[in-house]
Amino acid sequence: MLSLPSLLSERIQAIAGIDPELRPATRPQFGHYQTNVALRLANAEGRPPREVAARLVEQIDLADLCEPLEIAGPGFINLRIHTEVLGRVATQVLTEPKSGIGTVEHPRTVVIDYSSPNVAKQMHVGHLRSTIIGDCFTRVLRAQGHTVIPQNHIGDWGRQFGMLVEQILEEGIDLRALDLAGAEALYQRANAHLQSSTAFADRARERVVLLQGGDAETRQLWQQLIEVSKAGFNDTYRRMNVVLTDADLAGESIYNDDLAVVAADLEDRGVAVVDDGALVVFVDGFNAPAIIRNAAGGFGYTCTDLAAIRHRVGTLRADRLIYVVGAPQTYHFEQVFAVARLAGYLPETVTAQHVGFGQVLGADGKKFSTREGTAVTLNSLLDAAEREAAPAIALAAIKYADLSSGLQKDYTFDAQRMVATTGDTGPYLQYAHARVNQILRKAEAEGFDGDAVTVLAEPAEQQVALLLSRFGEVVAAVGETLQPHRLCGYLYELAGALSSFYEQCPVLKSGGDVRASRLALCAATRKVLATGLDLLGIEAPERM
Ligand code: ARG
Repeated sequence: MLSLPSLLSERIQAIAGIDPELRPATRPQFGHYQTNVALRLANAEGRPPREVAARLVEQIDLADLCEPLEIAGPGFINLRIHTEVLGRVATQVLTEPKSGIGTVEHPRTVVIDYSSPNVAKQMHVGHLRSTIIGDCFTRVLRAQGHTVIPQNHIGDWGRQFGMLVEQILEEGIDLRALDLAGAEALYQRANAHLQSSTAFADRARERVVLLQGGDAETRQLWQQLIEVSKAGFNDTYRRMNVVLTDADLAGESIYNDDLAVVAADLEDRGVAVVDDGALVVFVDGFNAPAIIRNAAGGFGYTCTDLAAIRHRVGTLRADRLIYVVGAPQTYHFEQVFAVARLAGYLPETVTAQHVGFGQVLGADGKKFSTREGTAVTLNSLLDAAEREAAPAIALAAIKYADLSSGLQKDYTFDAQRMVATTGDTGPYLQYAHARVNQILRKAEAEGFDGDAVTVLAEPAEQQVALLLSRFGEVVAAVGETLQPHRLCGYLYELAGALSSFYEQCPVLKSGGDVRASRLALCAATRKVLATGLDLLGIEAPERM
């Protein structure tokens, strides 16, 4: 696939010796792209910029792609792509299966750790963001030809199961009749019980030992709690239309047998040392050591994550690890990565990235919470959006709001604004898709099946084609930088260009070659909008 912007850049760089940093032209009369490369070179060489520009224009070989290069103002070089070339690229987007998303030259095996809710607790807003963002990464990286292994690192192990199991036995609860909300209520009762009764606290502690020792009855109740929770998570995943399946579940408990192995390995090789009864690793640059095993002999979150890294690199053979977990856990992951590097579990050839994300805020600008001040559940959030719009639109609204501003930023949950079909929203893009689809449906009913963009005389048509030619690079950039807002911004720009195109260029009412070409341009745009939305996890409805 012809990737225009990079081809242009390469050819200019071959002569100029530096990255031309191509920018889209600010006005149609300046062509399609502009570079200030001559100004920068002139500065370095101490020569007049226009003279440098003239030399470059003479030497740069772009005749097959562009009209003769033009020098503007103090020494900018303007590029205007041949309309045949633009038409060819737009046609390719329409006809090739991947719409210009190239297959990467070196596919990697990527583990993405995301969603990761906790057993016997409902998914909250943080899990919502993690699920949406992780889902987008999975879709983008798979589309590029990488092998993606999602890992849903659910919290299915830990001391809390001691009190949960004791509370179940005491109340005589039948877990088959429990749902996730019921399990969460049980959690709260058990917790209150633990605070108020030392006898119960003692029993809970003993129960943890039974669980760890593999006691059959305890294990069975624990397993049932997981089943109840999984059913609840899966309901939410279905509602959210994400690609996660049960096959991606890799909860903390699967590492149980590895924890002592990791601890012994780190201790034997002198990576970890005993300090105040605990086994710890001191890492430069961190103000507290990483705790591998606490003084009571228990293994915690950090040791589990080290075991998970060993598994992901050693067994799953991943060479890129991505963790989509809220910003408050940044320190944890930096430290875990540092320990894993030190221990050799994470060789330099393997990239490890924590992608943190900000909070969802309520209308009052404070962390989004219920009237009682507790964290909002994911389902209640979906309910709130669905009070404003139909489910598919409400979901698009939430996902787009989550992905379209920088991930690190907090964003305000404003259901009304998010579902609007105007402005930079998910529903606006869905609407743009439905509208172009409506035009094509009419034409198709009359027998149109054109597949070539052949006429691009109008600047508004050229602008659409130009944007279509950039799709592949935008997707590649998201896979590289893990910044979905770039794709959102691109699709928003494309939808805007499409609507200017409608205003300036009649489609159904034109005739002959122009009509066929405009329809093909519409079809290519519909395809890119649908593909792009799909990469964000958003449905592209046929009508709206
Ligand atoms: N269960 C954790 C939470 O709800 C998130 C787990 C993230 N993944 C990991 N490998 N630590 O905060």
